[in-house]
Amino acid sequence: MTEGKAVIGICNTASDLNPCNRHLTQIAEAVKRGVWAAGGFPCEFPVISLGEMFLKPTAMLYRNLMSMDVEEMIRANPVDAVVLLGGCDKTIPALLMGAASANVPAIVVPGGPMLSGTFRGKTLGSGTDGRKYFDLYRAGKLDDEDMQELECGIARSPGHCMVMGTASSMALVAEALGMTLPGAAAWPAVDARRMAIAEQSGTRAVAMAVAGPTPSEVMTRPAFLNAITALMSAGASTNAVVHLLAIAGRLGVPLSLDDFELISSQSPLLVDLKPHGHFLMEDFAYAGGAQCLLQQLLPLLHGEVLTVNGQSLGEQIESYEGHEQVVIRPLSRPLAPDGGIKVLRGNLAPDGALIKTSAASENLLVSRGRAIVFESKEEMLAKVNDESFAVEPDNVLVLRNAGPQGAPGFPEWGHIPLPNSLMVRGIDDVVRISDARMSGTSFGTVVLHVSPESAIGGPLGTVQDGDWIALNVHERRLTLEIAQSELEQRMERFEARKPHYTRGYGKLFLDHVEQAHLGCDFDFLKFEK
Ligand code: FES
Repeated sequence: MTEGKAVIGICNTASDLNPCNRHLTQIAEAVKRGVWAAGGFPCEFPVISLGEMFLKPTAMLYRNLMSMDVEEMIRANPVDAVVLLGGCDKTIPALLMGAASANVPAIVVPGGPMLSGTFRGKTLGSGTDGRKYFDLYRAGKLDDEDMQELECGIARSPGHCMVMGTASSMALVAEALGMTLPGAAAWPAVDARRMAIAEQSGTRAVAMAVAGPTPSEVMTRPAFLNAITALMSAGASTNAVVHLLAIAGRLGVPLSLDDFELISSQSPLLVDLKPHGHFLMEDFAYAGGAQCLLQQLLPLLHGEVLTVNGQSLGEQIESYEGHEQVVIRPLSRPLAPDGGIKVLRGNLAPDGALIKTSAASENLLVSRGRAIVFESKEEMLAKVNDESFAVEPDNVLVLRNAGPQGAPGFPEWGHIPLPNSLMVRGIDDVVRISDARMSGTSFGTVVLHVSPESAIGGPLGTVQDGDWIALNVHERRLTLEIAQSELEQRMERFEARKPHYTRGYGKLFLDHVEQAHLGCDFDFLKFEK
């Protein structure tokens, strides 16, 4: 920092087109108060905002673009430190990726979750319960008016989705990485304590402008391992795996799917939140939020890592005083012995695939069935909505051309809706496999992120209707039961489809995006020594 007042950039993702982040305008005002109070000079600036609700074909197509915007605006402007305001799924990942590359002292202020939803006497979680009620709507058990009333009750305040979906997961990850002040992940968007943390973060940023730390000093490999432990013990979103790989890649921190697999097997599931559990983010906040969770997890964490408040994570957690609550279990009494996300491999996913077992059906974790293949989302939707679609509960539904290149953009199509013809029979889950992602608010026995994806010649593209597929989560295997020679012959017949884009950002994306197991960043944005 040069002579004079510290200039604190406030990197704001508020947008009328992103309802989850609209209120960040008020949060930015709170950050400014904190900056002024500490003798700094706040300068708010906008960056691209990515809202899950409206962006087509998927917000994920633009995560890397937003990260470039964040990096370049931090680098190009005369800011001594920056406060990063995000909320909706892709915004905190893109902020962290851009800030990691710029490596100017940075502190994250998540926008916070919505208040718990209410509908006709029931407490509902966005996404998770929305999907259940949408299935009732598809089955004709709810009408348009019911759905409108439901929507108003389920999204009744500013903030992001309030289950342990991707936005909540990434706020938790930011806190576990040490990139927020303690307690920042969970307070509801409208809670006064969210504003207090925003003010404190502004104040803290002024000190960081002088003395750091920088993102590369905070987000070290042990910090990433801590974040993965928190992620697994919260039964959090599979999307966070992709984002953590991408953030680590920006810093040159070695991280792979093997780290997630190992930590998952060592991290008990402690957080009882939807989509796998009972409670919502508001309950998580009142129970003590990330600090309470991290305190339970301390024996499994690297407590020596530095956080943005200048203390080590261990020092920070020691000062947290808990109280009686039922949302976050102690290490001695977990909900399940290990974390919710497993890494599968096999001839169908040589570079890996994910399944979130905490949201899956126990009886399907070891199963085999004949494949029904959908070539596109359109074909898939037409068939699942067709009451005469011939499908049995033991079929395996396969969606391809839904990955980073194939869709394009790696959309959340992996939670293939249950076929109507099964729903009317009372079937509530089947095995689904794709090279897509799924929303962190989703549930079901869903295998995702199959890598390499079908559109670049991955084995998923060779599956034919009627092939047997075996899923064995206990052995971490995903197998297409055909002879190796047959698989090779089918792969030799692979023909790439016409690219989705031949110009502009879409072409840049197709030319440079990496596969799911590497984090889907652009190859040219990775850390360079
Ligand atoms: Fe923004 Fe769910 S739609 S967090």
